[in-house]
Amino acid sequence: MSTSPLTQEVIGQHNEYVMQNYTRKDVVIVKGRGSWVWDANKKMYLDFFPGWAVSGIGHCHPRVVKAISEQAKKILHVPNNYYNELQGQLAMKISLNSFGGRVFFCNSGAEANEGAIKLVRAFGNPDRNEIITMEGSFHGRTLACTAATGQQKYQKGFEPLPPGFTHVPFNDKEALKQAVSDRTVAVMLELIQGEGGVRIATPEYVRYVRELCYERNMLMIVDEVQTGMGRTGKYFAYQNYGIEPDVMTLAKSLGGGVPIGALVMQNKVSGILGPGMHASTFGGNPLACAAGLAVFEAIERERLLANVETMGAYLMERLQDLKKEFPVIREVRGRGLMFGLDLITNAPKAYEFCLSNGLLINCTQGNVLRIMPALNVAKQEINQALPVLREALARC
Ligand SMILES: Cc1ncc(COP(=O)(O)O)c(C=O)c1O
Repeated sequence: MSTSPLTQEVIGQHNEYVMQNYTRKDVVIVKGRGSWVWDANKKMYLDFFPGWAVSGIGHCHPRVVKAISEQAKKILHVPNNYYNELQGQLAMKISLNSFGGRVFFCNSGAEANEGAIKLVRAFGNPDRNEIITMEGSFHGRTLACTAATGQQKYQKGFEPLPPGFTHVPFNDKEALKQAVSDRTVAVMLELIQGEGGVRIATPEYVRYVRELCYERNMLMIVDEVQTGMGRTGKYFAYQNYGIEPDVMTLAKSLGGGVPIGALVMQNKVSGILGPGMHASTFGGNPLACAAGLAVFEAIERERLLANVETMGAYLMERLQDLKKEFPVIREVRGRGLMFGLDLITNAPKAYEFCLSNGLLINCTQGNVLRIMPALNVAKQEINQALPVLREALARC
């Protein structure tokens, strides 16, 4: 691959000055619009994993760009010992589109989950402070979130981890029942494990968790950092299950590319973290809230939830066709526009082929290809991606 001077310069700078904690491909992305990005060599890519779910409504959505440009001319940051015009508006949008509770704003998924952990511990202490989470889960990289995450590979080397987390097999009612003790205060789960390989919680299991939490006066936390904001065809994945959690965490696509996270809680537990108990300097700043409001506006005005349903059904059918054609596909899992192609082998090879041929996807858990197009993806774009994916699978 010929590389431009800019590509070489950028990679050189990274190699010398940036901490080397990421495995990066030699691609310098300089521009994005909708489902497309361009690199410094002017090569175009169809992005079917936009921003690891951050750019959920596509790159540089015009409503987000306009909203943050206008806000930038007014004021960028207002500290939380004063009010800003937009924080309450965004909290209201989230509340009215979910279960009607209150919102605390922060800056990332891990921070939102930290807030959830603090909330439930403050609720249960001193008698109950243990939280049950799922094997295969991913909740972020802070120490508490690392402890909450049910995968040892993220924990190794960081001991001692904060105590108080028990991991149980996902979708296993009996294991959960056995794990609950008098010290358990909450159950925390992703309704679709994203990093864990697009594994979907069964309706039966989710109802069981909900009932058990009611019965034992425990709080149910759903981590919707990846599944929230329309990804599954509803605003929030829990809405597919006919239940309401006590606490929900959001981040990623909430800001359409601008960092923002949110901890959303039922009114009955909204008084637990009182003044001085929790805070974020940047949390809920007007720039991030302007972006969040623009994301809601785009989802509403452009009927994106309906697009997720139709495009999701269309892509699911095509992926099932591929499964019939290629025995290397063990299973196709998905909901809305969140898909996992569980391969028997060679998923990294398929990922590399897609990258070289202008299609960005993700590979997780060794052999699962994760595909999460933007909520406003067009059928034509799906039709452009499919032949590349097909060719990649043919070479597996
Ligand atoms: C389900 C889930 N929770 C939490 C996180 C952590 O979010 P962040 O990287 O913004 O801290 C992620 C990130 O991938 C996630 O997928």
